[in-house]
Amino acid sequence: MSVAVTQGSLRRKLTIMLLSGAGGLALLVYFVVQSVAREIAQESQDNVLAASALSILDSARVVEGEITIDFPYASLSMLDTVSNERVFYQIQLDGKFLSGYEDLPQPEPLSSGVTRFGSDAYLGEAVRIATASRGLSTDAGASTLEVSVAQTRSSMNQTLARISRMAMAIGGGFFLVAALLSLLISRSTIRPLARLAASVTRRGPKDLRPVAAPVPTEMAPLVDALNTFMGRLKRSLSRSEEFIAEAAHRVRTPLAIVRTKAEITLRRVEKPENRAAIRDMIRAIDESSRTAGQLLDHAMVTFRADHLLDEEIDLAALASDTIESLRPVSELKEMEIHASFDASPHIRGDAILLQNALRNLLDNAIKYAPAGGTIRVHVSASDKKSILTVQDTGPGFPQNDLGQLRDRFARGTNASGTIGSGLGLTIVEDVVSAHGGAMTLENSAGGGACVTLSFPLS
Ligand SMILES: Nc1ncnc2c1ncn2[C@@H]1O[C@H](COP(=O)(O)OP(=O)(O)OP(=O)(O)O)[C@@H](O)[C@H]1O
Ligand SMILES: [Mg+2]
Repeated sequence: MSVAVTQGSLRRKLTIMLLSGAGGLALLVYFVVQSVAREIAQESQDNVLAASALSILDSARVVEGEITIDFPYASLSMLDTVSNERVFYQIQLDGKFLSGYEDLPQPEPLSSGVTRFGSDAYLGEAVRIATASRGLSTDAGASTLEVSVAQTRSSMNQTLARISRMAMAIGGGFFLVAALLSLLISRSTIRPLARLAASVTRRGPKDLRPVAAPVPTEMAPLVDALNTFMGRLKRSLSRSEEFIAEAAHRVRTPLAIVRTKAEITLRRVEKPENRAAIRDMIRAIDESSRTAGQLLDHAMVTFRADHLLDEEIDLAALASDTIESLRPVSELKEMEIHASFDASPHIRGDAILLQNALRNLLDNAIKYAPAGGTIRVHVSASDKKSILTVQDTGPGFPQNDLGQLRDRFARGTNASGTIGSGLGLTIVEDVVSAHGGAMTLENSAGGGACVTLSFPLS
């Protein structure tokens, strides 16, 4: 059997694709969460800085033409006590330093708003600076008072690190959930394919029915192709069976003619060696016409098994009828056929096929058991099966051949003096398996071949 050439696993490919998608999304989630959270944290620090710069500006008054500032220390101390940050400020009037830390850097004028923000380094620490300005009119004319408030960023940096960790946890969690989902998705996507393969593998070798189980749309072309292929195979098988049947049929008539002629010749010939030669010829003709008959029966069984009838059959009645039809043959060999029925089980199927199977078993018993013996046919039923056994009082199956006797054209070592084609048990097995049953061959303890056919009850 040739093994399919494979190129990677679809499931693995799907899983890898889904996992890399999930990984990309997890990174995106990480960066988005981190940058949004950073922005929010920055905004809240900026708001506090701006509020304190504005409150210093608000405390500036023009008294008698001079600017006085009643410095609101509370607004600054709130900044450093809450978060242990260091706080710096600077006040300028018209660009000239007035009070606070003279070298405090100023944020670039970034926006047109009243308050400007910037990040810088001061006294060896990273600071965030907010600068707000206000116009005042003094005796000297219009002046601009500018207040900068700066705060170190160490706790802000700690917050940002916490935010980073949180974003990483969210991204990681997202990835884990997505990975689990992608495993489930890839498994459930591949499942119909596995189910189809299993249902085709489970089939018996002769089951060429189209696949009827529903499949996803994407798999429909595959199933259609499989069904078309099986249809073609079935047609070609039935054509070759028809051909065999036709050939067997055409061979039988000339064989019968030749046999008659050989018998007539035998009567005329007197020389013993010539008579022996003609007897050999007749035997060979009998052998050939038995083979042709069995081939015809085999083709008929294959055809009917494909279109199996679904009739209710009384197994005991069917056995009685078949036994009666073979009684003349058994009587010729002085053999008795004894039938016993424990029950009268009913099975569903094709009576013609079942009769044919039983006829083959009785024919074997008559052929291979010695004259004067008894053939016992027994019908019984268990809770799940109907059982039919045929047992004879002959020498039984040759023990060494037991494994192969049901094969096509297989004959046992005990068959050399008997006419036959080796197709009888093949036919019986085909009939039984078409009915969902099984055939077992064994030798009974007291001697004699025993064939058991079991069928599911209707
Ligand atoms: N009742 C039996 N007792 C002993 N041997 C048997 C018996 N039935 C079958 N066999 C053995 O099994 C072989 C296969 O049987 P099968 O019926 O398939 O073929 P056959 O009888 O040789 O030919 P045919 O196709 O004409 O029936 C026989 O050749 C014989 O060796
Ligand atoms: Mg036989």
